[in-house]
Amino acid sequence: THQQDLAGKKILVSAGPTVEAIDPVRFLSNRSSGKMGYAVAQAAADRGAEVTLISGPTALAQPTNLKMIPIRSARELQEQLEENFDANDFVIMAAAVADYHVKEVADQKIKKHGRDVVELELVANPDILAALGQKKTHQRLVGFAAETQNLLANGAKKLAEKNLDMLVLNDVSRSDIGFNAADNEVRLLRPQEEPKLIEKTSKAQIAQEILDELLKLA
Ligand code: C5P
Repeated sequence: THQQDLAGKKILVSAGPTVEAIDPVRFLSNRSSGKMGYAVAQAAADRGAEVTLISGPTALAQPTNLKMIPIRSARELQEQLEENFDANDFVIMAAAVADYHVKEVADQKIKKHGRDVVELELVANPDILAALGQKKTHQRLVGFAAETQNLLANGAKKLAEKNLDMLVLNDVSRSDIGFNAADNEVRLLRPQEEPKLIEKTSKAQIAQEILDELLKLA
């Protein structure tokens, strides 16, 4: 049993990859496993929060005691976040949103027609979190960032530019943590505060510590 210190709080979590269609059988996506976002959603539900989890396709078991909304594309993710934004106190944006979608999705399977080279035109997706950062009122917004270099500088820039209350920073140049790993090591960045290092531990434990910090923002 857990301490019910998030009882009465409404928490919206996004997790997993987005999947951008090319044609009816093909897509562009990324290697997000959804593990970190699911760990946060499960931990928040265990601590008594009313949780809505908006998730791209993952291989994970559905967490219990929360409302699950499946999505595929960045556009669907944005629609569901916008729809649920006002009713929530905390938004934790752990989804790995594709930076681009395919400009013209073919409605039939694309055939080879003997071509050796084909071109796919890509169009930038909106920055969903930055848009939420512009319209937030009572909400506290948490973003995630995976960086391979200049971690703290890049993280601080995202925290400010997206108008976030917290940024969870991952070093994805290491293979023992981050994408698809069971463990993680993160830095929590908040405006006007020193970064807080959470040393390598399970994603379940990182999730608890993220929620501890969130409670301080409430
Ligand atoms: O990709 P980037 O490092 O900018 O991601 C930082 C945060 O912004 C993450 O929380 C991610 O979910 C969010 N994001 C978003 N829409 C995008 C790109 C990123 O909401 N198009």
